[in-house]
Amino acid sequence: MGNPVMLRALVLAALAVAAAAAAAATEKRKTYIVHMAKSAMPAEYADDHREWYGASLRSVSAASNMLYAYDTVLHGFSARLTAQEAADLACLGGVLAVNPEARYELHTTRTPEFLGIADGGADQGGLFPQSGTAADVVVGVLDTGVWPESRSYDDAGLGEVPSFWKGRCVEGAGFNASACNRKLVGARFFNRGYEAAMGPMDTDRESRSPRDDDGHGTHTSSTAAGAAVPGASLFGFASGTARGMAPRARVAVYKVCWLGGCFSSDILAGMDAAVADGCGVLSLSLGGGAADYSRDSVAIGAFSAMEQNVLVSCSAGNAGPGSSTLSNVAPWITTVGAGTLDRDFPAYVALGNGKNYTGVSLYSGKALPSTPLPIIYAANASNSTAGNLCMPGTLTPEKVAGKIVVCDRGVSARVQKGFVVRDAGGAGMVLSNTAANGQELVADAHLLPATGVGEREGVAIKSYVASDPSPTATIVVAGTQVGVHPSPVVAAFSSRGPNMVTPEILKPDIIAPGVNILAAWTGKAGPTGLAADTRRVGFNIISGTSMSCPHVSGLAALLRSAHPDWSPAAVRSALMTTAYATYSGGSSPLLDAATGATATPFDYGAGHVDPSRAVDPGLVYDLGTRDYVDFLCALKYSPAMIATVARSRDFSCAENRTYSVGGLNYPSFSVAFSTANGEGGESSAAATVTHTRTLTNVGGAGTYKVSTSVAGAAAQGVTVAVEPTELAFTSAGEKKSYTVRFTSRSQPSGTSGFGRLVWSDGKHSVASPIAFTWT
Ligand SMILES: *[C@@H]1O[C@H](CO)[C@@H](O)[C@H](O)[C@H]1NC(C)=O
Ligand SMILES: *[C@@H]1O[C@H](CO)[C@@H](O)[C@H](O)[C@H]1NC(C)=O
Ligand SMILES: *[C@@H]1O[C@H](CO)[C@@H](O)[C@H](O)[C@H]1NC(C)=O
Ligand SMILES: *[C@@H]1O[C@H](CO)[C@@H](O)[C@H](O)[C@H]1NC(C)=O
Ligand SMILES: *[C@@H]1O[C@H](CO)[C@@H](O)[C@H](O)[C@H]1NC(C)=O
Repeated sequence: MGNPVMLRALVLAALAVAAAAAAAATEKRKTYIVHMAKSAMPAEYADDHREWYGASLRSVSAASNMLYAYDTVLHGFSARLTAQEAADLACLGGVLAVNPEARYELHTTRTPEFLGIADGGADQGGLFPQSGTAADVVVGVLDTGVWPESRSYDDAGLGEVPSFWKGRCVEGAGFNASACNRKLVGARFFNRGYEAAMGPMDTDRESRSPRDDDGHGTHTSSTAAGAAVPGASLFGFASGTARGMAPRARVAVYKVCWLGGCFSSDILAGMDAAVADGCGVLSLSLGGGAADYSRDSVAIGAFSAMEQNVLVSCSAGNAGPGSSTLSNVAPWITTVGAGTLDRDFPAYVALGNGKNYTGVSLYSGKALPSTPLPIIYAANASNSTAGNLCMPGTLTPEKVAGKIVVCDRGVSARVQKGFVVRDAGGAGMVLSNTAANGQELVADAHLLPATGVGEREGVAIKSYVASDPSPTATIVVAGTQVGVHPSPVVAAFSSRGPNMVTPEILKPDIIAPGVNILAAWTGKAGPTGLAADTRRVGFNIISGTSMSCPHVSGLAALLRSAHPDWSPAAVRSALMTTAYATYSGGSSPLLDAATGATATPFDYGAGHVDPSRAVDPGLVYDLGTRDYVDFLCALKYSPAMIATVARSRDFSCAENRTYSVGGLNYPSFSVAFSTANGEGGESSAAATVTHTRTLTNVGGAGTYKVSTSVAGAAAQGVTVAVEPTELAFTSAGEKKSYTVRFTSRSQPSGTSGFGRLVWSDGKHSVASPIAFTWT
């Protein structure tokens, strides 16, 4: 300490550093996902790529900590960075991409804009022979965690945990490692991205552990692979045996969704762990907006999962019935929309004028008196311009006290509206659909006597209320009704095509039950999820593509166990080409709940999943990593973008080759006719689109003949020519190709039409949907 000048200089330098750090700290940091080209790693790091990631991060930011280093589904890491640091990092050697984190949402209709109800998983599973070997497939569910005490995770009768399994049960708040067993073989949680973005979680409300504080993750994981639980019901509704689609498969849960959402740094960490642990199927009932694949974390994680032989099944989204509302559209993902079951929960509204309308309800408390009560439209009992919606604080208590209140669906959660009515002193609620939901009915476990009614019934009831000087009504909740026809119908909320990211790939791929699904629930939240709902249930009935996705995940697990040699694409092909798009009997097409009219492949993809036929599809359209890389080449992805999606720089596009997006060997066709293909958009100009497809024989020897059909006025003018028209297979694994040429006169831009191409050997029917669009 002899030199005071030197000491002073050091102090000043330290102050300057501190000031710079303070300035950086005040600039807002965000989470970024940093993709690294492992092949470009300097030799000095050869033993430790994490060290290289750390050095890269430190070179642009002294203050940033790494949230996660990723190994399995991508090479790289996530960290909190300022915009400047992110830009600096993007310029470093070996850095492929620096993408801001995105927030994803669960695809349940309990979230504000939507509604939902129903059950049916168990019935579907009953069609399927119990496969002893399903025990060797682990379904990884990335969701809100698990309520391990549920009987759905009972491991009675299951053999030892498979030796390939590397996962584990991670302890945390209210969750012991002993919670896992031979059914629930893994449980982990990923909260770093969430807490970095939102601040420390409120530990009174959520558990820093795999424990499910919401119910959604328990519902989805038990739908996919829950054990059979006899005597399950929600307040007596939908009573019967609750059972996952693959009751003998194992489940591993990866909690990546928290009360504040699902953050992509955490989702990627969950996918990274799930693939490394040995899951054969991943189920993700969540999504964000559709984005370019090189910036979509779920698409990126799913690509490497696919490459490592893991099937990834995702929900299509609940943004229907508008068109182009899909999420999770990457062609290496199985995208699942939602349909209804043949079960309903009727509740009647009888009006003072003698009319009687049918709605749905899961209300189970004290019934309304049998004498009619006054009924009022919320818009006329509120001082708010949107009073019809029964938003919190908008009902005038003096006007609704003791009455049945008619509320319109939309904006706030359906059950929340009932709570608002009850809070203002209302006696009951009629929840009326609007044009956005049409006649689709989603049942809820309301907190007061209430029923949801279709748009038509809602209009009739409101018109009675408006015209009668002293209108009255009663509501009678009637329980569970089965054998409802027609079913399935496409759920109004189910997101629809066309695919906005790649119009040449038809999405969704398939639909499965997603309306009023009964499955296990958490003990931490009531069936409505409202804080005011103090009821606790072992099973709940909810709706969403969140519920349809795990049906397909479970069925995929069954197929993987029945056919361990099938690729993820082969499993998806089997599910798609055996799906049905007409009601039994064959000729009348599936309907859309939103319109009551015929649904199309933009709504249901290949159709509704048919588990019993999917085990033996005859032929499959197979795909592997190189096919998907060629697809990215066709999209004109740069080498860095391909390496970002595909985790490797070893994949490149040949310069002398023409790649075609529609050339992907997909089990469906999306054919875009452009007037540019014809002669100057003249109505007489013919446009031709040609695709080649390759079928792989997974059945016995057989000769398949092709047939094609088209539907809709615009499609009548399309010629579909297949060459050859007959394919003879003699041995398993044999591949044969065919070419299909679609020729059309031009149509007004925006027109669409549909068709189907079917290969049949008399025993198997290998069907592909076709969507035509004219641009
Ligand atoms: C975890 O284990 C401890 C000690 O055995 C026990 O007291 C506690 O109740 C367990 N917690 C849970 C959530 O099972
Ligand atoms: C309303 O109709 C249903 C079935 O059509 C019937 O079961 C119910 O008793 C009727 N209610 C009244 C009050 O008329
Ligand atoms: C609207 O009504 C609510 C409920 O009666 C009341 O609390 C609120 O003050 C009213 N607002 C206005 C602007 O009158
Ligand atoms: C609401 O109140 C207005 C004005 O009093 C009335 O004209 C209308 O019919 C009422 N609407 C309903 C559905 O009660
Ligand atoms: C494309 O180029 C590669 C290597 O340069 C060559 O091996 C291949 O034959 C070429 N293919 C065609 C179709 O020209």
